[in-house]
Amino acid sequence: MDKLVIRGGKRLKGSVTVSGSKNAALPIMAATLLAPGEHILRNVPHLRDVSTMGRLIANLGAGFLLEKKKAILDCSEIKHYEAPYDLVSTMRASVLVLGPLVSRLGKAKVSLPGGCAIGARPINLHLMGLEKMGATITLDSGYVIAKAKKLKGASIYFDIPTVTGTENIMMAAVLAEGRTLIENAAREPEVVDLANALISMGAKIKGAGESVIEVDGVKKLKPLRHAVIPDRIETGTFMAIAGITGGDITIKNCRVEHLDAVVNKLKDTGMEFRQVPRGVRVIGPERLKAVSTTTMPYPGFPTDMQAQLMAMMCRAEGASVISEKIFENRFMHVAELKRMGADITIEGGIATIKGVKKLTGAPLMATDLRASASLIVAALAAEGETSVKRIYHLDRGYERIEEKLKSLGADITREKE
Ligand code: EPU
Repeated sequence: MDKLVIRGGKRLKGSVTVSGSKNAALPIMAATLLAPGEHILRNVPHLRDVSTMGRLIANLGAGFLLEKKKAILDCSEIKHYEAPYDLVSTMRASVLVLGPLVSRLGKAKVSLPGGCAIGARPINLHLMGLEKMGATITLDSGYVIAKAKKLKGASIYFDIPTVTGTENIMMAAVLAEGRTLIENAAREPEVVDLANALISMGAKIKGAGESVIEVDGVKKLKPLRHAVIPDRIETGTFMAIAGITGGDITIKNCRVEHLDAVVNKLKDTGMEFRQVPRGVRVIGPERLKAVSTTTMPYPGFPTDMQAQLMAMMCRAEGASVISEKIFENRFMHVAELKRMGADITIEGGIATIKGVKKLTGAPLMATDLRASASLIVAALAAEGETSVKRIYHLDRGYERIEEKLKSLGADITREKE
């Protein structure tokens, strides 16, 4: 197992290019199951989750090749319909093959994901949507089995705007008979990117990015040609790094408009943002000012940036209150940040952070993807050496992170644990 060793305290400067979005690439890869033929997806990040999704799709009978940033998926023959426990347990997004498989093969058997480090994360809304479309759902020995001769359009209302739930139902609906309405749909840019990829395949979808999505089923789809949007959470993480290190980082190949809530919040900390062609220059102040926030579905402040903002607030001037409203257990980074000298108290889903003048390096343990990112953010600004173990969590979502940070002047090395 690898660990990252960081000697903090440097102002990071220079420019960095953001990779393609993990959470857009994964559902789009699953969407290729909907149409026979060779699909070409560009701007795909090299990440552990992308290889896991590739392996899952290959297990179903497809060809999968990742060359530089291009993924080629040959879905001419899909013979199998099972997403086994060993893959789903390493990546919850495996559940995204459920909609496409029922649609293409009339059946799917997908291991139930179970709880994870950040919360219970049920998939009841995905299943409710498929049932409304005429699928029969049974649960057997930890697996969901969904069957439908032909899915039918339906009106589906989500009690909670679920991202992968909206994506699963949108993928199930594109080849269904008639019209599907998804109400209280998730509005995240990754949902819009999936819709655009499906539209490039011939799907009829209106309203992606709004609360009501309308899908008119078509008879068949053609292979996709699509470039994945830049990763907004990687972008936001580099913004956090510029802020906490008092740095000056130009972030290239990003879509700042996907980060309005984050940029607005970070401006209040005293950070400066300047528009540059196809990117943004971010300048951190001498000392950050404390800000408070509550995580919300898009376009609110993203839960996937909560841990990184909290790391910044550990060294800010003043007190900050951060409420986590999306996942019930997404404060796993708090105990680790406290080991660096942070002053944080938690009550329910609310963390109160009193900024301290300095953080000190310590041996730390990563617990999930964004928690790991927050430890890196804090370590870059801490005095002395920090080692972050279990870095495989970080490798699920950040491409070549230590190379990118080194190019900005960070003192960071990857070592064997
Ligand atoms: N929920 C239900 N029932 C469902 C589905 C969701 O109760 O059937 C609840 C969840 O428990 C949660 C809330 O609804 O409380 C929202 O969860 P959502 O379904 O939107 O999350 P997700 O689709 O499982 C995606 C991202 C996450 C990101 C969340 C929220 C992917 C592959 N994953 O998860 O990304 O945190 O949306 O924006 O798109 C990450 O990248 O680190 C990550 C965890």
